[in-house]
Amino acid sequence: MALVSPLRGIGGAGPAIPGGAFLNLLYVLPERWGEGIGGRLLDEVLAEARRRGCTRIVLWTDEDNERSQWLYASRGFARTGRAGDDAAEWARKL
Ligand SMILES: CC(C)(COP(=O)(O)OP(=O)(O)OC[C@H]1O[C@@H](n2cnc3c(N)ncnc32)[C@H](O)[C@@H]1OP(=O)(O)O)[C@@H](O)C(=O)NCCC(=O)NCCS
Repeated sequence: MALVSPLRGIGGAGPAIPGGAFLNLLYVLPERWGEGIGGRLLDEVLAEARRRGCTRIVLWTDEDNERSQWLYASRGFARTGRAGDDAAEWARKL
């Protein structure tokens, strides 16, 4: 499953930022990890966000989540430099 919402300022509490998408959740059943499902799901998220006119997508992921970092790096995301609470912000253009 994946859940995407408009990107908002002030750590999610502010007004929606035009053209921005925020990837809240991305989950694949553990017994199916490594089969390419996460990649296909993320490709659909990127295509749908683009279709809806978004130009940038942002997410946060835990510093120790190696698998999610492989996935996001494989789809062109990079760290923005913002980090805190053992997690880091990643983003890419659409
Ligand atoms: C993170 C998660 C969604 C990944 O899903 P997945 O179905 O296992 O991912 P995929 O099989 O599509 O693999 C993703 C990428 O990692 C790459 N990868 C796999 N093993 C790798 C390794 N050892 N080194 C480098 N890259 C690797 C794959 O090649 C793939 O890229 P590709 O499509 O270009 O080949 C899944 O592990 C999950 O649900 N985790 C728990 C929830 C979570 O952490 N969600 C993210 C929170 S932000």
